[in-house]
Amino acid sequence: MKIFVSRERDAGESRVAASPDSVKRLIGLGAEVVVERGAGEGSRLPDAAFEAAGARIGEAEEAGSADLVLKVRRPDAGEIASYRRGAVIVGILDPYGHEDAVAEMAEAGLTSFAMELMPRITRAQVMDVLSSQANLAGYQAVVDAAALYDRAFPMMMTAAGTVPAARVFVMGAGVAGLQSIATARRLGAVVTATDVRPAAKEQVESLGAKFVAVEDDEFRAAETAAGYAKPMSEAYQAQQAELTASHITKQDIVITTALIPGRPAPRLVSRAVVESMKPGSVIVDLAVERGGNVEGAVPGEVAEVGPARVVGYLNVPGRIAASASLLYARNLSAFVETLIDKETHALRIDLSDELQAATALTHDGNVVQDRFRRETPVDTGVSATDQGGD
Ligand code: NAI
Repeated sequence: MKIFVSRERDAGESRVAASPDSVKRLIGLGAEVVVERGAGEGSRLPDAAFEAAGARIGEAEEAGSADLVLKVRRPDAGEIASYRRGAVIVGILDPYGHEDAVAEMAEAGLTSFAMELMPRITRAQVMDVLSSQANLAGYQAVVDAAALYDRAFPMMMTAAGTVPAARVFVMGAGVAGLQSIATARRLGAVVTATDVRPAAKEQVESLGAKFVAVEDDEFRAAETAAGYAKPMSEAYQAQQAELTASHITKQDIVITTALIPGRPAPRLVSRAVVESMKPGSVIVDLAVERGGNVEGAVPGEVAEVGPARVVGYLNVPGRIAASASLLYARNLSAFVETLIDKETHALRIDLSDELQAATALTHDGNVVQDRFRRETPVDTGVSATDQGGD
């Protein structure tokens, strides 16, 4: 079985879908691993490091004979066209709102798995790309804020006077937010945080931060069975906005991470609130790629909004690519292990398996999840027997 590790085509993507460690694991499963020349450059992983781990370095054309292609991002049209029918593609495929691209993969006869749809169950924790990447994004958000903030984070008592501790408010205390809290605390900031899920309160407090939220009946019921936030009512959001507005005015740094799966990010901070902040304040909006939590955030830019700078960096895990790739590569190799038959060393696609069923987007010429299907069903006329895959 041939596994191809692709170089990412998107100029903004510095991560890679394998590491020397994951290459060794994949070879241990009986696979031949080909890494595209230069694939690891953005993550400080030279070709020689992959070779030393047992991979062969190859050119882009080799993707066409691969049984399994490992990616960070969804392949573009050119890449899709270069793969053979029946090939398996694994990556962060970003299907929400991209039904056409999903249909293209189906039409090309690819079996594709979107890692971000992995169920958050114990067995799949090692494959949880949302957690591995969000954790690093949460850390990086604080580092980015500290770099732009013209003052120190920790309180410093010196002979020349006292520098006060920075006040950091983290909105959304999921995986990214909790790491932001921990990082800001390590730097000596005074940290507060908010979330709509009641479970977050204890987690925030256990990290030494103060929890600030409207804790009514709606809040007590805001967590779905899957552990995610529900969209909140307009009345709740108005109360939340009122409470957080007066709090934000007193902060130096705000980091927003609030997301609701499959929906645009909730708007948590209005322009008027940003304008009420102190001169030199910094806001980092980690939700900017999903519409943003902060009014005035510009994707890919640091925007000046009144007295504050609003940071809208894209692909924040990619800003810490060497670490992000190592964790992502491990997530992928753990999932690939479940796709390979231990005895025959061939791919074993079985969409009745819980993990494959949850993550599969396309198979046998079809989009296999209704929510990512276009209005018109895709009919490629390709039968299951035409699909290779081992
Ligand atoms: P996420 O990335 O979907 O959202 C980030 C945070 O924003 C969440 O904490 C969410 O509650 C919050 N949020 C949404 N709307 C908000 C609003 N209007 N105001 C303030 N905050 C708002 O969530 P993430 O980080 O992926 O984690 C979701 C949950 O899953 C957490 O409970 C996390 O601990 C849990 N989890 C469980 C895992 C497992 O059991 N294997 C692995 C990873 C996470």
